[in-house]
Amino acid sequence: MRRKLVAANWKMNGDKATIDGLLGAFVQGIDTAAIDAVVFPPALYVAQLAEKLAGSGIGYGVQNAHYAEKGAYTGELSLPMVKEFGCEYVLVGHSERRELFAEDDALVATKVEAVLNAGLTPMLCVGETLEQREAGTTEQVVGNQLKAVLDKVGIQAFERTVIAYEPVWAIGTGKTASPDQAQEVHAFIRGQLANADAAIAQKCRVLYGGSVKAASAHELFQQPDIDGGLVGGASLLADEFVAICQAAKEA
Ligand code: PGA
Repeated sequence: MRRKLVAANWKMNGDKATIDGLLGAFVQGIDTAAIDAVVFPPALYVAQLAEKLAGSGIGYGVQNAHYAEKGAYTGELSLPMVKEFGCEYVLVGHSERRELFAEDDALVATKVEAVLNAGLTPMLCVGETLEQREAGTTEQVVGNQLKAVLDKVGIQAFERTVIAYEPVWAIGTGKTASPDQAQEVHAFIRGQLANADAAIAQKCRVLYGGSVKAASAHELFQQPDIDGGLVGGASLLADEFVAICQAAKEA
């Protein structure tokens, strides 16, 4: 049995007061004995999370980090810094990083390797655009995104790495993939891992992301290969996110 994991990706949203309110509600409402919950705030707020989430069982991390340990990389954050503030997770290769900040499969794989070497858990995002889906290349695109990591790090990467399948056309659009559509790609992803190591494939958690809402979460999380969710917009609404965590617990 894979334990469900639900993650909040706040992107570039929130302020001290809003974050305080959200965290209070999360600590109160999320049953961390039953599921894993993780919050990805804008990096400046990580210290606030460290304080507010202490002892709650809710984990946190950053939405991006550099692979180098230190140096002349203006504007970037290193993994030792991230670690010093108690982060356990690093989001890697989110489609917004890939699209808006030109992160390609090779850079994403380098970051996954660096995050693992730092003793942190990468949450690797994969997913196709609408154009790619309509052209029938979803499996090819997602397969290549996985292959980049498999080639660079090996299947052992997925002993710790969490995968988030996020169809780009479903992110922030209100268009959730249907449970069947999502399950199909999740099964494909697990199959790709199983080709290299069946036991690791069985243990690896594959989350769904893309307009997950409380109303859609339960059915998505009941699919055999969906192990939770990576939630953007709905994670900025305390009741919605707590309800999504509850759906994960009940699925
Ligand atoms: P969304 O974002 O839930 O707002 O679609 C998900 C994500 O980008 O991780």
